[in-house]
Amino acid sequence: MLLEVRDLHVEFRTRDGIAHAVNGVSYSVEAGETLAVLGESGSGKSVTAQAVMGILDVPPGRITGGRILFRGQDLLKLKGEERRRIRGAEMAMIFQDALSALNPVLSVGDQLGEMFVVHRGMSRKDARARAVELMDRVRIPAAAQRVRDYPHQFSGGMRQRIMIAMALALEPALVIADEPTTALDVTVQAQVMDLLADLQREYRMGLTLITHDLGVVADVADKIAVMYAGRIVESAPVHDIYKAPAHPYTRGLLDSIPRLDRKGRELYAIKGLPPSLMAVPAGCSFNPRCPMAQDVCRTDEPPLYEVDQQRGSACHFWRECLHGRRG
Ligand SMILES: Nc1ncnc2c1ncn2[C@@H]1O[C@H](COP(=O)(O)OP(=O)(O)O)[C@@H](O)[C@H]1O
Ligand code: SF4
Ligand SMILES: [Mg+2]
Repeated sequence: MLLEVRDLHVEFRTRDGIAHAVNGVSYSVEAGETLAVLGESGSGKSVTAQAVMGILDVPPGRITGGRILFRGQDLLKLKGEERRRIRGAEMAMIFQDALSALNPVLSVGDQLGEMFVVHRGMSRKDARARAVELMDRVRIPAAAQRVRDYPHQFSGGMRQRIMIAMALALEPALVIADEPTTALDVTVQAQVMDLLADLQREYRMGLTLITHDLGVVADVADKIAVMYAGRIVESAPVHDIYKAPAHPYTRGLLDSIPRLDRKGRELYAIKGLPPSLMAVPAGCSFNPRCPMAQDVCRTDEPPLYEVDQQRGSACHFWRECLHGRRG
């Protein structure tokens, strides 16, 4: 197994109290596999990714439990130096906002080339040639000319391609893309997502794709982990989820995707807002918003029930949900 996160706990100590941002999250990613991590804003998706990458803000953040195994090795037990080496060469992250992730005063060719100079000991000239190759790879037109341009001279979609090129430069085994297309407009989103999916297959990397948009993952992900209030509430192969969700929150997310065949009908929206992570409701944390909630949901926290070998749901009524009986 390439990456295995086991029972991870992360909290933030702030003036207002302790936020339990990640509460016992477990997931795994194999080489060549794409896991989509899905959930509304504030559910702990990015914090989990930061813990895996070793870039968590400490303090105020703190990992209070769990293990992060990369090729079987617990990253949380590594010394700083070894951790940095793995982060630099074997895992890479793609962020939402390329403009702030790229250096504004270096040409994109110099930034891409730097990776090869520093990590592969290449000459400037060879590194420049590799930079052009990479830009071609991420389908930037006229790469040989544009290699001298600065980040602000590219459109949002092209900048995101450059960030993807940076992430893939050293051919990492694991890539975490945190809302990589959220800042782009819809048609460009699809192009960048297609590119990422193609490259993932080509490089056979393990990809964790974080998104709040279930609409973008159908064609690219192998499996999905749905997060709510710092926990995984459903995890399953992507087709199973689209066929029939086993958690009412997943169902809510699915029903809120705009679909051509439902044109004209009003779009469903999950009522209410996610809870503050400082005051998560007792019982099932989704209960105040759940159309299927019963008394037991307000007192007993559901464990992650095993629906089948590949699927789990943290809902007392997963059977009813799966078979379409509502409440
Ligand atoms: N730097 C920080 N300081 C304090 N709390 C934080 C910080 N980063 C994240 N959190 C807490 O963790 C929660 C989850 O954040 P995050 O993982 O970024 O959510 P998302 O699912 O949108 O990526 C936030 O709602 C907040 O309570
Ligand atoms: S446990 Fe209850 S409140 Fe939670 S998702 Fe299931 S039905 Fe809804
Ligand atoms: Mg986030």
